[in-house]
Parts: sequence; C-alpha cells; structure tokens
Amino acid sequence: MADHSHYTCFNNPYLTVPSFRDVEGTVDPRTILRADSRLELEIGFGRGRFIRERAMAQKDVRMLGIETKRKLVYECAERVRRSGIDNAVVMHGDAREVLARMAPDGCFDNIFILFPDPWWKARHRKRMVVTDGLTDHVVRLLRQGGHFFVETDVDFRADEYRQVLLADPRLSPMGDKGIVSDNPFGARSSREAQAMELGMPVYRMLFCRK
Ligand SMILES: C[S@@+](CC[C@H](N)C(=O)[O-])C[C@H]1O[C@@H](n2cnc3c(N)ncnc32)[C@H](O)[C@@H]1O
Repeated sequence: MADHSHYTCFNNPYLTVPSFRDVEGTVDPRTILRADSRLELEIGFGRGRFIRERAMAQKDVRMLGIETKRKLVYECAERVRRSGIDNAVVMHGDAREVLARMAPDGCFDNIFILFPDPWWKARHRKRMVVTDGLTDHVVRLLRQGGHFFVETDVDFRADEYRQVLLADPRLSPMGDKGIVSDNPFGARSSREAQAMELGMPVYRMLFCRK
C-alpha cells in the first residue's frame, strides 16, 4: 500500500480534486459536462471501474461521478486521464447534499448507484444512500424514459431499496417487480466484478422514469 504519511495540508493532492463544495448554489451538470444531451450520473463510484468502462463503451454519453472520498476521486481522475477518457468527470461530494441543489429536472438519461451501503449494523442506517430523500431527487433529475439502476450484494438492503423505489409513483419497475437478472449497461463496478467472481449473489434493481 502507498505511504501517504508525508502529505500535509499543503502538499496533499487529494485536497486539490474538484469538489462540489466549491460550486456555490445550483449545480448544473450540463455546465460541468459541457453538453446538454445524453448525460449520466454515478453516485459513489469507488475505484471508478464502472464509470470508466461505461464512458469508454458509450462515447456519445457524458458521465458525471460523485464520491465522498477525495482519495478515490483523485485516483479515479488519474485513471480517467491516463486512459484518455474525455467524456467522464469525477468530483468530490456527498450525493445527499449535491443532488438537492442539482438542476434542471430531467437532465440525466440514467442514474447509477452500485453497492452503496457497506454498513451492516443498525447504527449505520443514518449513512444509507438509497433512501426516499435521495430517491426523490434521483427521480426528479431523470428524464422521462430514463433509468435508475441500483445494485447490492446485501439481501435485506435490496428489499429495503426496492420498497423505496416501488413506493415512488413516478417510477415503473422493470423485470420482475423491479428485479433484473443481468446488468444491461455493458460495464461493471469493481464490487460487482468481485461478487460475480466469488459466485456471490448480486441483486439488481432497474426502474424507469414514467
Ligand atoms: C461499497 S463502495 C462501492 C463502490 C463502487 N460503486 C463499486 O460498486 O465498486 C460505496 C462507495 O460509495 C461512496 N459513498 C457512500 N456514501 C456516499 C454519498 N452520500 N455520496 C457519494 N458517495 C458515497 C463510498 O465512499 C464508497 O466509495
């Protein structure tokens, strides 16, 4: 593992990553991505495998990624740069705060949240990402016919997410009451790839914006 003990607040590169904290007021993804059509959002991209694979496979799509950990943003931005990907922008921020001030409504074609909640214990519930509060903004930001794709390997979290998504009258469940057997987006996150390699179950939920 890399030794980062020599970093201070003056030379720590993680502190220089683009952050939504530096964007005041309304966040307009069309300005950040310098485009106004076929925009997609990934929340909590982690190591960034999905956003990079998706951006490389879909050249006509522009991808925006939000991640709370600055180190992961820095590392993903480096990988994006080294791979010559010019249709993905990754930024630091907490989706629960950023989505609330994102506009305009209907600006994204697809929104992805993949394996968001590694926290098992009841006291970790307050950090949950897929809640009705966040879903309210996700749905508002999806265009008509756009998709919300959520994955997890935790069975009880899958049930909780599905209940939140089924309860939103603006969403239509795809597959079997919202559960689909395959990932239709031609890209996999590290966590999905790892779960599949280990033969662990992956719960995939796909909903369409009415
Ligand atoms: C278990 S990891 C999964 C990473 C990746 N999506 C994957 O499937 O490999 C969850 C990621 O979500 C990020 N995250 C958690 N809460 C978040 C939030 N409110 N806003 C943005 N990112 C968040 C975490 O920092 C972490 O990198």
